[in-house]
Amino acid sequence: LVAGVDSSTQSTKVVVCDAETGEVVRTARASHPDGTSVHPKRWWEAFEEATADGLLDGVEAISVGGQQHGMVTLDEFDEVVRDALLWNDVRSADDAHELVGEFGGQQAWVDAVDVVPVAAFTVSKVRWLARHEPENAARVRTVVLPHDWLTGQILKTGGGFEGWTSDRGDASGTGYWSPVTGEYVEELQNLALGRTFEVPRVLGPNGRAGVTEAGMVVAAGTGDNMGAALGLGLQPGDVVVSLGTSGTVFACHEAVTGDTSGQIAGFASADGGHLPLMCTLNAARVLTAGASMLGVDLDELSRLALGAPIGAQGLTLLPYLDGERTPDLPEATGTLGGITRANATPANLARACVEGMLANLVAGVEGLKAHGIEAKRIVLIGGASASPAVQAVAPILFGVPVSIPAAGEYVGIGAARQAAWALLGGDEPPQWRVAYEKELVASPEDIEAGAAVYERYRTLQQTMHG
Ligand code: XUL
Repeated sequence: LVAGVDSSTQSTKVVVCDAETGEVVRTARASHPDGTSVHPKRWWEAFEEATADGLLDGVEAISVGGQQHGMVTLDEFDEVVRDALLWNDVRSADDAHELVGEFGGQQAWVDAVDVVPVAAFTVSKVRWLARHEPENAARVRTVVLPHDWLTGQILKTGGGFEGWTSDRGDASGTGYWSPVTGEYVEELQNLALGRTFEVPRVLGPNGRAGVTEAGMVVAAGTGDNMGAALGLGLQPGDVVVSLGTSGTVFACHEAVTGDTSGQIAGFASADGGHLPLMCTLNAARVLTAGASMLGVDLDELSRLALGAPIGAQGLTLLPYLDGERTPDLPEATGTLGGITRANATPANLARACVEGMLANLVAGVEGLKAHGIEAKRIVLIGGASASPAVQAVAPILFGVPVSIPAAGEYVGIGAARQAAWALLGGDEPPQWRVAYEKELVASPEDIEAGAAVYERYRTLQQTMHG
């Protein structure tokens, strides 16, 4: 048996699978505080809660998938210096812009690390710390990512810790590690903190962070989106749209994308390749906010949205409820456009929430296409993908077939597959079958209507944010 952990923004999920086949044997989850700034020990408490009662009995290898980018600062005794600033914390927006300018602009960043940093990236958070909390900054010896820290915790607790480790996928989200050279860029570390600092050793895709005294192999682990990609076993032409706390659009790719617009981040994948990715701050929680505005629950929101026509009779939502990362508008708020007395109904508002959330991600699918990565099908995952309204609207707006995988925990399954790879060895991860429960297709007429909805969304976006 092998175990995969998904330490996400709001909870920790652990999936135990058969190492050879990938069959899910048991799962558990525990919540931890969410927000944008959290003490790492909360993730560890949630991991311990989820794995109590013998969940890991018989497990030979484990791997941790975690929310990307979070800055975990450690002092000379490996104690946490301050709460971790997470991917969704936008206080470092100005720091990101400064860094882009100081290092010679967007092209220079892409040449060095294949990303243009925004507030989300670790490098921007390190700069924020140096500027705003110099006393804390002075105590920092090492900066690690959430999954690095949890991996280290498993080894420190179980015996077998040999120093901090990371993997290519998560390291590529720091903004100071290059997926092209496979090296850290010390100049960028210095630029952020004003001095160099220690960073985890980056392991290969089937590398081992260590082995506990009880003999459990601890694999490299990875970022949650990289974990999902590994868990889904993607085919060429597959583009994933994940609707969790963040909205992400990504695909496996053999080359770097070199996107200088800042829309597509050139991350590395967990299998040795690349994972070009677009990320929004507004996904599943747009639906929660819509439901709360309407005074209904999510089921009713979905029912209402399904009762409205495509395009919500002209009502358009720009869903920037938590500011936005892509496009880079950290201070933005949401906009509801095109309201008339005739279209001001609960059903249209519900529909506009679903359409606005998805239109924001259509932009990512278009962005990948500009780099020659054309979606032949969308693989839809994440909490909000279960909504019947989302399932109805997605094929209309994306304009290609949409597949829903049968199991829900793809980050955990991907991490488990990585654990199996570290346990069993070999050049490729073990072949695990992925079952799809639904293939959703829209009619050509509906796809045409969906294209008009996206155009209207783009026009409102341009009008409000140029
Ligand atoms: C991706 C990103 C988010 C987090 C959320 O770049 O920031 O998807 O990984 O878990």
